[in-house]
Amino acid sequence: MNITTLISAKEISNRVSELGQDISNDYQGTVILISVLKGSICFMADLLRSIDSDVTIEFISISSYKGAMKGNISLHDNSIEDIQGKHVILVEDIVDSGRTLSFLIELLSKKNPKSIDVCTLLDKPARREVEIPLSYIGFEIDDYFVVGYGLDVNQKYRNLPYIGYIEQ
Ligand code: IMP
Ligand code: MG
Repeated sequence: MNITTLISAKEISNRVSELGQDISNDYQGTVILISVLKGSICFMADLLRSIDSDVTIEFISISSYKGAMKGNISLHDNSIEDIQGKHVILVEDIVDSGRTLSFLIELLSKKNPKSIDVCTLLDKPARREVEIPLSYIGFEIDDYFVVGYGLDVNQKYRNLPYIGYIEQ
């Protein structure tokens, strides 16, 4: 398969540092970063290290894609700590239709956090079906199916240090 670079490792690293600074400036108290597995692992690991205010981390496991085809949303693991009265940031790799985040925001809202913000590395607005307020966006991209830096197609290419799209 031929993969064309869309965002280089250097561009990712610069932008993730900026997002970390923005989050550090916006939150005085502790914030809980909740990483949406698996796609956000690289982003989470780098973002976490670029935040210098108090953070704790949690992971939630969900999938909404079967290969490059959209499937049903399924929640695999929801064993996160008590978030009642706390500030939460959902850390996502990419927002596409918005269905995954809409599902998660509804789920987490029932646990009465003080606030829920979304920090996504990539935003693909062309395919949005559900409007989601995105507080932090790394890059807005056109309607490409992208892989790398945690993102996969059929579980492959997560290990690429850059983000690219597959040439048809
Ligand atoms: P949504 O629910 O349609 O917003 O889809 C969000 C999820 O689908 C993301 O968290 C990704 O895991 C996956 N996804 C959406 N677009 C892409 C893509 O271009 N490449 C890889 N995964 C994607
Ligand atoms: Mg994801």
